[in-house]
Amino acid sequence: MKWEAEHMSNQSGKIAVVTGSNTGTGYHIAHGLAAKGAHVILACRNLEKATAAKDRILADIPNAKVAVEHLDLADLQCVKEFSERMHSTYQHLDLLINNAGVMIPPKSTTKDGFELQFGTNHLGHFALTGRLLPLLEAAPKARILTMASIAHKSGKIDFDDLHSERKRYVRWASYSQSKLANLMFALELERRLKARKSSVSSLGCHPGWSSTDLQRHSLVVRFFDLFLGMNAKKGAAPCLYAATEEEALTYGYWGVTKRGEMHGWTGRAKMTSRARNEQTAQKLWAVSCELTGVTYFEDTQTP
Ligand SMILES: NC(=O)c1ccc[n+]([C@@H]2O[C@H](COP(=O)([O-])OP(=O)(O)OC[C@H]3O[C@@H](n4cnc5c(N)ncnc54)[C@H](OP(=O)(O)O)[C@@H]3O)[C@@H](O)[C@H]2O)c1
Repeated sequence: MKWEAEHMSNQSGKIAVVTGSNTGTGYHIAHGLAAKGAHVILACRNLEKATAAKDRILADIPNAKVAVEHLDLADLQCVKEFSERMHSTYQHLDLLINNAGVMIPPKSTTKDGFELQFGTNHLGHFALTGRLLPLLEAAPKARILTMASIAHKSGKIDFDDLHSERKRYVRWASYSQSKLANLMFALELERRLKARKSSVSSLGCHPGWSSTDLQRHSLVVRFFDLFLGMNAKKGAAPCLYAATEEEALTYGYWGVTKRGEMHGWTGRAKMTSRARNEQTAQKLWAVSCELTGVTYFEDTQTP
């Protein structure tokens, strides 16, 4: 459908956290929400870049309500401290946008020793979401959006070697695993929220192939980006649609729909049968609780 950020309803009174919002899709998600009156918290690991993004938003929208907060998802202590600041500053949160991500870096680990992509993209957001849930449940109808990718389609959760410690590190396989984990988490969280009759909803989304800094670790991908990438504002649209439209609650995963889901307008995104596998999702949930030490909804029986 031809839906753009400008079509979004008024978001005044809403409070939104957007991770990784100093650049790329996150920046456009934050910009779009701020333009419609939401109070937006730019949750970023680099405060200098985040402040520059805030200044760019304010230059465009002088009355925007934008705050900057330090959040490094590759450091669980930092996730805890960020969440504590949110709890002491805000009474509720209406939107949590789990957007930040890293793609195909050289082999490296988070501060807690997790493979960087799985640790940042999935485990960091898993911990963040658990810690912010009480604030989201304090809002009338909060939503949690988690950014997945068409890369989830080639993903497989390797429970025997989640951090590539035993086998050779294959960057794309680790990225795809992290993005499959993002989507499985979004779907499993929704099942657990609904089983608890929570007012909060969880949805997944993806931005197709958007030209952003995500490509920074590969010259080849940056080359193809010149021909295949679309602008990041368009890539942000499925997330904004899923975060704000009533109709979006009828389906769990939104993306762009043309050219193998790399381009185009917002619509229902395709997910693999692996992504829908509830047993694997439950196992991933249990492992994520164990690894992060953030335990929530563990005893929730999903139908
Ligand atoms: N672009 C695409 O074609 C595409 C396709 C499918 C899915 N996605 C997903 O879309 C999301 C946004 O990516 P993008 O394309 O906008 O890439 P991007 O321009 O590189 O933005 C990624 C954001 O995540 C932040 N980030 C990285 N590691 C972090 C950490 N440890 N803690 C906190 N923030 C961290 C980055 O901060 P710095 O600026 O400080 O590095 C940046 O703000 C990602 O989840 C990505 O997997 C993108």
